[in-house]
Amino acid sequence: MDLVNSKDLAGSCRDHFPSLARQRNGRPAVYLDNACTTLVPQPVIAAINEYYTDYPSCGGRRSHHWFAQEVTDRIEGNTEKGIKGSRRLIAEFINADSEREILFTVNTTHAINTVALGFKFKPGDVVLLTDREHNSNLLPWLRLQKQGRIRVDTVPAKGMDAFDLTAFEGKLKQGRVRLASLAYSSNVTGATLPAREIITLAHRYGARVLLDGAQTVPHQAVDVRTLDVDFLAFSLHKMCGPRGVGVLYGKKELLGRGSAEWEGGEDVIEPAILGGGTVSDTTYGSYSLLEAPERFEAGIPNYAGQIASGVAVQYLRQIGMDRIAAHEERLNAFLSRALLNRYGDAGWFRILGPPEAVRRGGILTFEVRRPNAVGIAKELNARGNIMIRDGVFCVHSYFNGQFGPDWTHPRSHRDHRMIYRVSFYLYNTIEECERLLETLDEIFRERSYL
Ligand SMILES: Cc1ncc(COP(=O)(O)O)c(C=O)c1O
Repeated sequence: MDLVNSKDLAGSCRDHFPSLARQRNGRPAVYLDNACTTLVPQPVIAAINEYYTDYPSCGGRRSHHWFAQEVTDRIEGNTEKGIKGSRRLIAEFINADSEREILFTVNTTHAINTVALGFKFKPGDVVLLTDREHNSNLLPWLRLQKQGRIRVDTVPAKGMDAFDLTAFEGKLKQGRVRLASLAYSSNVTGATLPAREIITLAHRYGARVLLDGAQTVPHQAVDVRTLDVDFLAFSLHKMCGPRGVGVLYGKKELLGRGSAEWEGGEDVIEPAILGGGTVSDTTYGSYSLLEAPERFEAGIPNYAGQIASGVAVQYLRQIGMDRIAAHEERLNAFLSRALLNRYGDAGWFRILGPPEAVRRGGILTFEVRRPNAVGIAKELNARGNIMIRDGVFCVHSYFNGQFGPDWTHPRSHRDHRMIYRVSFYLYNTIEECERLLETLDEIFRERSYL
């Protein structure tokens, strides 16, 4: 199939995803839970299989045999053989200066914790967050606050969705902000921050910026050099890649140098976990660290996952991130319009986040405030194999702040308020949106909401 030239993106790539061929009760799978984790295309599955079938050994940082060399070629590259390794492919995907700025982690959560545990905070330092952080970009900071090592502060959004640059600058002016750690795109609303302006402002006041790119990097082109971002975290499982592989990008000068943790300046992060693979030498009284990325990658990693990650980003690049973004926007605009036309006027249905679908990327989260509004995701799954997400999406703090801490336990079933999230990726279609609409109509009618 011609991935590059085909006008209909989903039409040209659906065949690459074996799970989309599955049927239940004679109906196909409609997968709309992509903000959680995406489906996996055949080349990525093949790369994972190839590792376990052909060279299931450790990499060449440790052993120096034939199989180990094949592993290392695929992760670190081999110019003699003309192989670009995954680390280089990922660096190119986000336009990093060097592949040595790409640290493999387990996921975004691990990447954020790597910064939280490695940054040398001084008493009184402030870490700034948005008011809608995923637990993975909240708990690491709350724990440091509990330990008295930092103070956590937030920048409340302007209205529902716009980042308040003036409020942000106001906090920076107070002079204690060491780091702003921000969800680049919200996993609730899909809204993306004006990262370039945020980073310029933060740097003006001497603060560093960590972007939680879990919902951004899979859906639009991200260029770390244009952004001048200090750290960027993301997960491959949200971008057609394997589970259990994430990335922390860090500017080279922030990843340390020399053989000790503390060399390189006060904003250098030190490795939170040490062990095999991180050192050049040890005695029972001392150790000398390797440079990044090795010093941050302790123990035997998920080799198959790291190899397949390179294949995943190559796959996405071949399709084109701009095409993926445009495709998601088209689906989001279609479904948003249809939902609002059908249910928007009655007062019990609303879409969270910016009114314009184009500002919500591939995420469409809606609220249903009707008696017994629970279980709609389950019914969509049971009736139409339609997979969406319900709940609070690991953003308890935001919903508690918006609706009050008891909102999940209303006094009466009449006050039920449920949140549902539809999230798109390159293989979703307008027909799938239509299936969702028809099935939702059925459910709402049976529940006498209409
Ligand atoms: C905005 C955001 N941050 C962090 C995470 C955590 O990602 P992971 O589970 O891959 O660590 C997610 C996952 O949904 C997310 O949406």
